[in-house]
Amino acid sequence: MDTQALNAAIRPTQPIAGQRPGTSGLRKKVTVFQQPPYLQNFVQSIFDALDGKSGQTLVVGGDGRFFNDQAIQIIVRMALANGFGRVLVGRHGILSTPAASCVIRGRRAFGGIILSASHNPGGPEGDFGIKYNAGNGGPAPEKLTDAIYAHTLSIQRYLTLETPEVDLSTLGTTAFGPATVEVIDPVAEYADLMASLFDFAALRRLLASGFRLRFDAMHAVTGPYAQELLVRRLGAPADSMAGGTPLPDFGGGHPDPNPTYAADLVQALSGAGAPDFGAASDGDGDRNMILGRDFIVTPSDSLAVLAANAHLVPAYAGGLAGVARSMPTSMAVDRVAQALGIPCFETPTGWKYFGNLLDSGQITLCGEESAGTGSNHVREKDGLWAVLFWLSVVAARNQSVEAIVRDHWRRFGRNVYSRHDYEGVDSAAAAGLMTHLRSRLASLPGQALAGSTVAAADDFAYTDPVDGSVSTGQGIRVVLADGSRLVFRLSGTGTEGATLRVYLERFEPDAARHGVPTQEALAPLIDAAESLAGIAQRTGRSSPTVVT
Ligand code: G1P
Ligand code: ZN
Repeated sequence: MDTQALNAAIRPTQPIAGQRPGTSGLRKKVTVFQQPPYLQNFVQSIFDALDGKSGQTLVVGGDGRFFNDQAIQIIVRMALANGFGRVLVGRHGILSTPAASCVIRGRRAFGGIILSASHNPGGPEGDFGIKYNAGNGGPAPEKLTDAIYAHTLSIQRYLTLETPEVDLSTLGTTAFGPATVEVIDPVAEYADLMASLFDFAALRRLLASGFRLRFDAMHAVTGPYAQELLVRRLGAPADSMAGGTPLPDFGGGHPDPNPTYAADLVQALSGAGAPDFGAASDGDGDRNMILGRDFIVTPSDSLAVLAANAHLVPAYAGGLAGVARSMPTSMAVDRVAQALGIPCFETPTGWKYFGNLLDSGQITLCGEESAGTGSNHVREKDGLWAVLFWLSVVAARNQSVEAIVRDHWRRFGRNVYSRHDYEGVDSAAAAGLMTHLRSRLASLPGQALAGSTVAAADDFAYTDPVDGSVSTGQGIRVVLADGSRLVFRLSGTGTEGATLRVYLERFEPDAARHGVPTQEALAPLIDAAESLAGIAQRTGRSSPTVVT
């Protein structure tokens, strides 16, 4: 394409330090992204890393957080200047992460740019993020993010278009020379995909039967999606929604659906008069939390329960090809896979590692302990999909959420599980702790620990079974002879200091002990984690910031 015809401008720039994408794209304080040419450099580096984009379709959207609208304007102009033939943008620049994946796939786009810092707080003092998703609808593989990063180190110019703001408030197509910008309904295609997977008539019957639900969108992107799906298409009363109006600062909250940050929802689901079902999603709509009355489903259990009940959902009635979980996710789903006679893959943390397994048809469902569950319907985890899946299981089994999970534990045993996060710790101290653990790995096997013996200890490495790429240094695993596990890793999504995550897991086959409170059941492992890593002494923290 002749960029001159579009008045493309070539702006000189130079590399900016610290643009290495983490677990899910580049995340920084919004004030960093607001300083030109920080965003421009990263976007140009994405485009420079993409071969064959000329004349192709790019999808652009974000979770609506502060700076989303301005960033979209910058990206749309740069996409046109870089030769994309068609840019599809969600109205008002909105697309939830799973909806963006759905649109990329449905429209056979070349790829997409998603603006979000997921569950991190937004607003002028909050976080911002950007990532590139490929034509399969999934996060760019490591090879591509490495190439993007390499471009950020040598960038000398970026291309943009001299044009006034593009009107993103009205659906329709605008021509820019030979290229077009099309503003699309951010909800419709995603809602239609959901309708094709689940039995909406059965869900309508459930909601008409007096079954009560509460969905908390946490003032983030899922408000309009839940309104369309749960209220308009499935008939839930309008007051089933909480936090349904998206706000640029998420109402000052932390849009992370866990018992700490969605405490209001946990409260609303407590007591005799509470609704039957509660759920929440995060900033960009890919995470989920599922609650029953007086009952919280852990994400690891959720994945296992969905796998065990997938045959009840039309889209999965033919059976699952396989399942996958991230390494720190509990091994509950492994037991289901074994019972179903299907493979279970263990991948590094981050949704991008599921992409090749999904694309090659080796897995149908996958999930992470961090409130992410998904399937081959898109290439991102998907919050509302998980809600509809759970509602489908409740409807088909005619049981409460709690009864479904307790039945599951009785059948498969319970993987008692918790994650302890130490947020905002000194980066050097956190790195030192990991180095210390690595240095002890070889000496651990055979040692007594937490009432058992260390069976194996390693720094998790993964070889992708499809493309053979190897990812090393993905977290310290200490596996005990009784099946318990301790995992230590540093977050790749934080923006302040370092976040140490400690994952604790113990298998409890005895149903009589399934009622023991989680932290109590894990106490010996919590002590063992401290004695192995010296967390208190190294980080100055005597207790975690967040326990999930
Ligand atoms: C966290 C979660 C991880 C998830 C990622 C993006 O990454 O732990 O499972 O894929 O957010 O939502 P972390 O901060 O641990 O690197
Ligand atoms: Zn998210």
